[in-house]
Amino acid sequence: MSKLKIAIVISTTRATRFGHKPAEWVKTIAAERSDMTVELLDLRDYPMPFFDEVASNAWAPTTNEVAQRWQKKVAEFDGYIFVTAEYNHSMPAVLKNALDYAYPEWVKKAAAFVGYGAVGGSRAVEHLRLVAAELQLATIRTGVYIQGADFMAALREGKDLKEIPHLQQGVRDMLDQLAWWSTALKIARQQDVLTKAA
Ligand SMILES: Cc1cc2nc3c(=O)[nH]c(=O)nc-3n(C[C@H](O)[C@H](O)[C@H](O)COP(=O)(O)O)c2cc1C
Repeated sequence: MSKLKIAIVISTTRATRFGHKPAEWVKTIAAERSDMTVELLDLRDYPMPFFDEVASNAWAPTTNEVAQRWQKKVAEFDGYIFVTAEYNHSMPAVLKNALDYAYPEWVKKAAAFVGYGAVGGSRAVEHLRLVAAELQLATIRTGVYIQGADFMAALREGKDLKEIPHLQQGVRDMLDQLAWWSTALKIARQQDVLTKAA
């Protein structure tokens, strides 16, 4: 089977964001693996308006050109790693908007989460898991939560995340699970195509 294609989504866009740092760190660890290729998806590159279509693209084609480009990009992948901040105990609005702007592109694929914040972005990740269920994304048990002193050291003192061994191991465990589920779902999606063609 060809290598899995995994997207790492940078979920915040503000000028002084921290979000690209954990995303790049996860990419470096994932790039050591031979079973997947990884690509960063930066929501800054997809400046979509707040959702303004007649319906989800599950029901009606999207007219906004940036959103069409986003949907095409999302469709390329077998699995996703959402690297998310926690804004008032949930996911950043820009991420929710981007999730809403696609539907079939997410379906029957796998999703993993890396959160950061005072409690590791865990409340945002739990909300994301509920949203993912509606998008028919299968979520991976092991999340990575950059929290407390680790988060403050990285945010305020610029500590490199690769210097925090327990977080590195967490990413590796998450990637193992993501690879398993992404492979299983890729085979199942291919089987869907074969069944429909028969
Ligand atoms: C609007 C807003 C709401 C926030 N709410 C929370 C929160 O609920 N929990 C938390 O741990 N941090 C919260 N923070 C602090 C963020 O963890 C911190 O600013 C982080 O750097 C945000 O990610 P970003 O830099 O990628 O935007 C909030 C920050 C903003 C801007």
